[in-house]
Amino acid sequence: MKVNKAIFPAAGLGTRLLPITKSIPKEMLVLVDKPLIQYGVEECINAKINDIIIVTGRGKTAIEDYFDRSIEHEIMLKEKGKHNLLKSVNDISDRINLTYTRQKEALGLGHAILCAQNMVGEEPFAVVLSDDIIDSNVPVMKQMIDIYKNYRYSILAVQKVQDEDVSKYGIIQGKEIEKGLFKVEDLVEKPEINEAPSNLAIIGRYILMPDIFNFISKTKPGKGGEIQLTDAIKSLLSIQPVYALEFEGVRYDGGNKLDLLKAQIVYGLKNTEIRSGLIDFIKKLDFV
Ligand code: G1P
Repeated sequence: MKVNKAIFPAAGLGTRLLPITKSIPKEMLVLVDKPLIQYGVEECINAKINDIIIVTGRGKTAIEDYFDRSIEHEIMLKEKGKHNLLKSVNDISDRINLTYTRQKEALGLGHAILCAQNMVGEEPFAVVLSDDIIDSNVPVMKQMIDIYKNYRYSILAVQKVQDEDVSKYGIIQGKEIEKGLFKVEDLVEKPEINEAPSNLAIIGRYILMPDIFNFISKTKPGKGGEIQLTDAIKSLLSIQPVYALEFEGVRYDGGNKLDLLKAQIVYGLKNTEIRSGLIDFIKKLDFV
């Protein structure tokens, strides 16, 4: 069955980016000229996934406002004849079907996904964590859908990480069945390095079979007292295969200040409007 829907968990508190996240959801932090969440949404559109389900929480209304019409801007841009800008303002919302649901308590990623169960139904679906920014030639969700078309079971995006970073991620153990594609044998959420089965970390892109909901609903709180998606996927392994794709691309952690700044520079250099100005500026930074 084709993947038509994507869940965007967006109820997190953005603690690592305080104080800005006191009033601005981390999904709305700017990367050059668009909010982080839009890059994930564009990745889905590219993979022909147009039904977007955003799981929000308190203090996240800026996300809904962003994807809504902005009549004041539209009137002003029409009057001034700024048609290109007008198109950029409406383009993204015109290309997707958006629905929202609320996660009333921050009980973990697994719980956030479960909040969207009724909206997904009995279909395979994607999950996008929009603070994982991935710069790649082929958008990562498209890379995953291409694999899904052959294997028809859950696919996790993974990437090798340094030893000192394994305790920040869900880690898989797997058998490589074709170049960069692993059949998952085990998963552990944020293990200590001496307990980690490998260095292959789950990055925030998933394609999941709807059977996962049943397993999430039976998952007890795990690491950090939260209902972990990783634990539910481990249980899913008891009834069906799960695959992990070591994707092509560079990933920036949008929840990390240094990574967010690196992404600004890389995406800025790719933006034709500001590229040369940014290069001039960097060249003059000879005091560094
Ligand atoms: C979540 C998942 C983790 C995954 C990570 C990717 O953790 O629980 O398995 O590796 O996203 O970014 P979080 O970063 O929300 O703590």
